[in-house]
Amino acid sequence: MCDTERLSNNASTAPVPDGRAAVSSHAEDLMATPVPTLAGTEYTSHEVFERERRHLFHGGWFLALRADTLARGNRRVIDVAGESILVARDLDGTLHAHANVCRHRGARLCEHDSDSTQGSLMCPYHAWTYALDGRLIATPHLDAEEVDKEALSLWSIAVAEWHGFVFVSLAADPVPFDEWMQRHGQELLALERYDLGNLRVAVTTRAEVRANWKVIVENYQECLHCPRVHPELVEVVPTYRGGIVQDPARPDGGVTLRGGGNSFSRTGWSSLPLLPGIGDEDASSYYGCTMFPNAFVDVTGTSVVVTTMYPQGPDHTTVVAEYLFAPDTIAADGFDPSEVVDFSELVAAQDFGVCERVQRGVSSTRFTHGVLTPKDDWVISFVDHYRATMARDRP
Ligand code: FES
Ligand SMILES: [Fe+2]
Repeated sequence: MCDTERLSNNASTAPVPDGRAAVSSHAEDLMATPVPTLAGTEYTSHEVFERERRHLFHGGWFLALRADTLARGNRRVIDVAGESILVARDLDGTLHAHANVCRHRGARLCEHDSDSTQGSLMCPYHAWTYALDGRLIATPHLDAEEVDKEALSLWSIAVAEWHGFVFVSLAADPVPFDEWMQRHGQELLALERYDLGNLRVAVTTRAEVRANWKVIVENYQECLHCPRVHPELVEVVPTYRGGIVQDPARPDGGVTLRGGGNSFSRTGWSSLPLLPGIGDEDASSYYGCTMFPNAFVDVTGTSVVVTTMYPQGPDHTTVVAEYLFAPDTIAADGFDPSEVVDFSELVAAQDFGVCERVQRGVSSTRFTHGVLTPKDDWVISFVDHYRATMARDRP
C-alpha cells in the first residue's frame, strides 16, 4: 500500500521494487518517535479541500471509470472533485473527455449517464449538437455564417487508458501519464501479470460516505482495526488478526487466505473460476493496492474489486465499487457473484462506519492531531506521499 517513492521519503531506504518488504525496519525506526496524523483541519477545511482540488484531483491524473463500462457511441458523466466532465467513446472506439458545458451559453450538457449509443451530444437548451469527439456539428435556427462551428468544439480534457482503467487530467499541461503512474501507481504496476485490462465489470455498488477521502485511504492502509471492526474478514485472512496488513513471510506484499481459499467470501472460497492465467500462489492470495489519489484495487484468485473515490467535499466522498471477473465467467450460465460481492460490501460498510466516526471525531475543536504507531506505517507512508505531492505537483 505504498509505492517506492513513499518508502524512500519515509523509511530512509533506497527504493525497493516491493514496498512492503521494508516494513519491519521502518517500524523499528518509528519506535522512538511518535508520528502525528494529519491535523484535524486537514480533514475538515474547505480551504484544504480547494488546494487538493488544484494540486491532486485537477492537477494530476484521476481514475474516472473502467473502460468496459463505456460502450461505443456512448458517454458517461464523471464528477472530478466538483468539476463535471464527459468521457465519451466514439463509434470507432476512441476515447475522448470534455468539459460538460455547452459552448453556446454554458448550459450543462448532460446530467446523467446514458444508455443511448446515438453517437452525439445535444444540449437541452438550444439544441446545439456535438459529435462525441467534441466537434460542434449542428446549431439549429442559425445559418452557417452566424456561428463559427469549427471554433466552438467542446473544451477538451486529457484522457489516458491503462489496462482498462480510464484516467483523466484537468491540468492545462498534464504530467505524462506514464510518469504519473511511476510516481503514484507502483503497486498497481506490480500486478500487471493479472491482465486487468481483459476483466469486465459485473457488479457496481455506490456509497455516500460522510468522511474525508483521506480518512478512507488511511483506514485502508492499516489493519489495527481489523480484529474489532471486521470479525468476518479476520476469519478469512489470519494475518489480519495481528493488526498488520502485511504477512512478514510474504515479501511480495500478498497475504494468504485461510486454508488456501480463493476469494473474499464468508468461507474464503467461492465456486467462481480462477482469474485466467494466474499461478498457484496468486490463486490463494490477496493483494491490496492504492492508486493515488482516488482508488484502491483488491485482487483475489477469482475477482478484482476496483474502488474509486469521488470526493464531494471535505466531509463527503462518493465511493463506487466495481467487481471485475473474466468475461467467460460472467457469460457462463448461472453466474452468481453474490457471495463475493456480499462479503466485500459487508467489509466496506464496516469500514465506512468507522470512517464516518473518525470524521465526526476529527471535527472536534480539541482534535489537533492524533498519533500513528509503528503498525500504522502504511498510513505514515500515505501521509508522507500526500504531503510531498501537495508540495511538489503544481497545477
Ligand atoms: S446553451 Fe447549449 S445550446 Fe444554448
Ligand atoms: Fe477495514
